[in-house]
Amino acid sequence: MISEEEVNARIAEIAAQINEDYKGEEIVAIGILRGGVYFCTELTKRITVPVILDFMEASSYGAATSSSGQVNITKDLIEDIAGRHVIVVEDIIDTGRTLSLLLDNLRARKPKSLKLCTLLDKPERRIVQVPVDYNGFVIPNKFVIGYGMDYAQKYRNLPYIGVVEGE
Ligand code: PRP
Repeated sequence: MISEEEVNARIAEIAAQINEDYKGEEIVAIGILRGGVYFCTELTKRITVPVILDFMEASSYGAATSSSGQVNITKDLIEDIAGRHVIVVEDIIDTGRTLSLLLDNLRARKPKSLKLCTLLDKPERRIVQVPVDYNGFVIPNKFVIGYGMDYAQKYRNLPYIGVVEGE
């Protein structure tokens, strides 16, 4: 769906925008495991303002809305984000459930600012609205793999975004 060259060029553009937006500031980039790991590392390699890297793993379960759903944090941050500029880095926003709950959780830790950066956005599937501040590509409702995204835990390491036919 999206070649390695296209993905990398877009990541460079997003990094340039972040460098501009946070000039003179320090940021904490939070990669969301496991899917966000490739995008987060490629993005932060191109960031020139001081950046601290941390990771978090979460899964959402239960009801469909952020008010009644719950987020299960299976790996928490090491950093204290209170009073700091935070950017959450994800591979894909689908229904929005995971990120909505995760953002609520992070907001409660009182960061100075909290933004969301995703490589891919599948708006057709959205159930819970989430504010996307930096978005790589808007994509149709197809099963995508590569650049962190899996099919039965495989293919995350593909350096491009592919489509699984028939899924
Ligand atoms: C994927 C993706 C997001 C979430 C998006 O993670 O990385 O975290 O799903 O879906 P949503 O918008 O419907 O909540 P997944 O749970 O597949 O885990 P993984 O990153 O380890 O593959």
